[in-house]
Amino acid sequence: MSAPATGLLDVRGLRISAGEREIVTGIDLHVDPGECLGLVGESGSGKSLAVRAVMDILPRGVRRSGGEVTAGGRFAMVFQNPTTSLDPLMSVGNQIAEVRRFVRGRSRAEAKAEAIELLTQVGIPDPATRYRSRPDQLSGGQRQRVGIAIALATDPDILLCDEPTTALDVTVQAQVLGLLTALRRDRGLTMVMISHDLAVVAQVADRVAVMRAGAVVETGPTASVVGDPQHEYTASLVGAVLDLPEAEDS
Ligand SMILES: Nc1ncnc2c1ncn2[C@@H]1O[C@H](COP(=O)(O)OP(=O)(O)O)[C@@H](O)[C@H]1O
Ligand SMILES: [Mg+2]
Repeated sequence: MSAPATGLLDVRGLRISAGEREIVTGIDLHVDPGECLGLVGESGSGKSLAVRAVMDILPRGVRRSGGEVTAGGRFAMVFQNPTTSLDPLMSVGNQIAEVRRFVRGRSRAEAKAEAIELLTQVGIPDPATRYRSRPDQLSGGQRQRVGIAIALATDPDILLCDEPTTALDVTVQAQVLGLLTALRRDRGLTMVMISHDLAVVAQVADRVAVMRAGAVVETGPTASVVGDPQHEYTASLVGAVLDLPEAEDS
């Protein structure tokens, strides 16, 4: 009774375990081409492990214990903390250029030109100069922009963003979300946006899947999940983050 996969990414019955403990207990997700799926839920609900399982980069001691992942494109991941994913000793430009050399076989000169172009696309000012900066010479927001440029350097179809703005100040957070939205539009990217913060997810996602304790408890179009949550847990998330006055007729 299983229908053919239709999404660019289809996850069926995904289970993840660590030893005897089942952490993700059988989840289904699908993401259509060009769509942004938001994955929201409290810390520890299994969001990161779920996307790591999709990328096949589960940490040691954690394994996929069931389910299927079907992908119709190339993945790249944007992590919460670019400081730990960037090499502290290498210039940010070289880190991007290395990806172009490795993934696309570019010459040094081509890779450098493309890295500068990527720095431009992610909104780094004076990119030819910034190319030579080490990560610690950039602000947190700029480091995350570099993290995004490194992900883009692999020419992904699907960008998996795991709490990409959680470590940033609110203002910078909004700028980085704006950048991701623009990149998605300009490059026709398909996206998964993970956050513990429903407000973040609601800003960018077309559909939302709500995770709790390793299970998806609710999924649907963002407007209906936020506007009319069907699950008690979703309602509590909406109540907690959308601290807005009731809409008034005007
Ligand atoms: N390397 C690991 N080994 C064992 N358990 C882990 C490991 N990483 C995460 N977990 C457990 O898996 C659960 C889900 O973690 P995670 O996917 O990181 O949650 P989230 O991203 O939703 O905050 C947590 O309870 C966590 O303790
Ligand atoms: Mg996480």
